[in-house]
Amino acid sequence: MILRVRCDTSIPAVTDDPAYSAAMAKRIGILTGGGDCPGLNGVIRSVVLHARNTYGWEVVGVRNGFEGLYEEDYVDLEPQRVSLLLSRGGTMLGSSNRANPFAYPIKLPDGRVEIMDASPRILQNLAKLGLEGLIVVGGDGTMSFAKKFVDKGAKIVGVPKTIDNDLEATDYTVGFQTAVEVVVDAIDRLQTTAESHERILIVEVMGRYAGWIAMTAGLSAGAHVILIPEIEYDIDRVVEAFHRRHGRGVSYSIVVVAEGAVPKGGEHAVLAKGDATKQDRLGGAGERVAAAISARTDYEVRTVVLGHLQRGGTPCAFDRELATRYGVKAVELIADGKFGHVAALEKGHMVAKGMDKAIKKLKLVDPHGELARAARAVGIELGG
Ligand code: F6P
Repeated sequence: MILRVRCDTSIPAVTDDPAYSAAMAKRIGILTGGGDCPGLNGVIRSVVLHARNTYGWEVVGVRNGFEGLYEEDYVDLEPQRVSLLLSRGGTMLGSSNRANPFAYPIKLPDGRVEIMDASPRILQNLAKLGLEGLIVVGGDGTMSFAKKFVDKGAKIVGVPKTIDNDLEATDYTVGFQTAVEVVVDAIDRLQTTAESHERILIVEVMGRYAGWIAMTAGLSAGAHVILIPEIEYDIDRVVEAFHRRHGRGVSYSIVVVAEGAVPKGGEHAVLAKGDATKQDRLGGAGERVAAAISARTDYEVRTVVLGHLQRGGTPCAFDRELATRYGVKAVELIADGKFGHVAALEKGHMVAKGMDKAIKKLKLVDPHGELARAARAVGIELGG
């Protein structure tokens, strides 16, 4: 049963028009899974507009990722519902990065929670919906669940999103560029206060096991030290960099630390261990660097953890454009029957890539690649 939601009653609902309804025999679905990011709403909007305008298809929104397919929690996405979405962050469909459909926490009648495989019921519900295809907008976790469903015969295509930008299939994921803008803005602000107080300011940024946000934002904002997961850092090299700056009469420094940064021979800083239903929660990498600096020097150190600020707010122009192009391509993948593929950006062009390409391995910053070389060339210390 599809829930019909009308947000603005002054606009006639297209489904009230019998001629339109008769023509709307076909429909596709869309869900957003994993951590949210700016630009998701732009993908939803573009999917709805292209599906309706070009193919005459209805679009069903599935709420809260795969959870909505289990619970049969749907929303009819009529064009007027998406008219103001492009500039809004988050996702109007909701998301969940705990909903692993293959290890799904189910509440039993006696109140106990048991981890069960929810995929048979999800496949059943998908069949009931009778979609031409389902668009799954997600990162590596969501995309690996989608691939398992494709292998079981589901008609799914993907759109890569995550602020982490760590999906091998595409040059840029939706949400990454906005996160970088947030970090750059924060560093610009921190530069002036760090300078006034002659402090070392540590900025911990997200990105999980990839250093794209740290490296890109650090380069763009002129950070002095950037520590990324791909390069184990030697804290003595970092301290040396501060001494060099002090030697030149510059008594403050900005250090960007990716949450996944690891000291030589050390481990990731983990706030909460994961289990079958969720990944480890990273956190504390910045404080760890601060403690190590304080143990070795007299410099005054402060740490700022940007956290979910990087995931919230208005998407930047790049993400709005990318979201629109991804949505259009995803609808076309369904029209072409290219299930098991994701829309991807390659050298400036939208292309189709196999879903396995998106999940086989994480896309990481090359420690000796152009970005790292550019950073070293302008005197940024990478710790190793
Ligand atoms: O994958 C996106 C991301 O924001 C990571 O950068 C971060 O480690 C994680 O999600 C945080 O997840 P949560 O919102 O569950 O704390």
